[in-house]
Amino acid sequence: MLKNDLLIKALLRQAVPRTPVWIMRQAGRYLPEYLKVRSQAGDFMTLCKTPELACRVTMQPLERFDLDAAILFSDILTIPDAMGLGLQFVKDEGPVFARPVRTKRDIVNLPIPDPIHELGYVVDAVKAIKTELNNKVPLIGFSGSPWTLATYMVEGGSSKVFSKIKGLIYEQPETAHLLLDKLAKAVELYLIAQIQAGVNVCMIFDTWGGVLTPQGYQDFSLQYMKKITAGINQYCANNNITIPVVLFTKQGGQWLESIADSNCHAVGIDWTVNIKQARELVGHKVAIQGNLDPAVLYATPAQIREHVKKVIYDFGPHNGHVFNLGHGIYPDVNPDHLTALIAAVKESSTQVLSSRA
Ligand code: CP3
Repeated sequence: MLKNDLLIKALLRQAVPRTPVWIMRQAGRYLPEYLKVRSQAGDFMTLCKTPELACRVTMQPLERFDLDAAILFSDILTIPDAMGLGLQFVKDEGPVFARPVRTKRDIVNLPIPDPIHELGYVVDAVKAIKTELNNKVPLIGFSGSPWTLATYMVEGGSSKVFSKIKGLIYEQPETAHLLLDKLAKAVELYLIAQIQAGVNVCMIFDTWGGVLTPQGYQDFSLQYMKKITAGINQYCANNNITIPVVLFTKQGGQWLESIADSNCHAVGIDWTVNIKQARELVGHKVAIQGNLDPAVLYATPAQIREHVKKVIYDFGPHNGHVFNLGHGIYPDVNPDHLTALIAAVKESSTQVLSSRA
């Protein structure tokens, strides 16, 4: 049994005495202790591929801050790496694939990785983290969405205009669907393997869904996240367990209703969405995770407190809020400002939720 199950309760829209909080990219470069372990490991992928080190950096933010969840330290690009694309993180450039996917033949030939064997380092990291956590807080497992993974795999790395992947969806939609379908199967197997190893929540990061048209989002992104969610829900029903699924589409605010209809338990929102409106629109169906602008952490602790209070009061005295930033924490943020943010979430949410009739 989890000692702190606020996150699970909030994701299932049950009553909590205060709003749980965790932070996207809570383990990472803004923490000097992370930079130390990364430099000892040599590089970021070695950190991800060494379960003891992945476990150590997962625990670092929990040692420093009063957080209500741990998130597996890994990356969304582990799946394409396991598919044989040759992932490297190049300084100042981000991820680069040695063998990007370009033709129909490349896509037909792509294997669907067996997570236990080809991503065994992730499964082992989850097990090590669960042991270390000793049920103190829940552990969040994650994957990229098929669409977001496809953007990196076809572009060969990060992109601004997405020419190649967008060229593919418009010129050869069937080939794009073949790729997305394979990725959806790979992601489903990967998340189920994480559940079997012990994660308590699954989150799907759709970082680039927001670059699609409304119809394109339905067809090329949401449809596949729905399939994965259905697969996880079915697995959980068969095994009599409850694992909340959170879908996060950055810049997906205009599609909240269709995301909320995808059988997920919670929707992550970025800071371009008004959280009060989001709750009024979909709060009767799903929990909402978010959505402070990560740049607020550049302000003073007193100012941060006011911005946090506004998010908490805008959401109001209702069930189903998980506090987070609208996207990952930036690497040049002062960690003490996160301490102030977390204290403010506890203070404001205790006030708001205790006012509930
Ligand atoms: O949230 C967490 O603390 C868990 C760890 C986590 C990382 N990446 C570690 C990481 C998670 C959940 C991710 C997800 C991820 N990775 C996403 C989706 C979320 C988002 O941010 O939109 C994406 C798009 C990636 C792909 C990725 N990984 C890029 C583009 C980069 C380089 C750019 C950057 O931010 O540095 C990474 C590297 C990465 N992933 C780092 C970390 C801590 C930095 C690596 C380093 O230490 O140099």
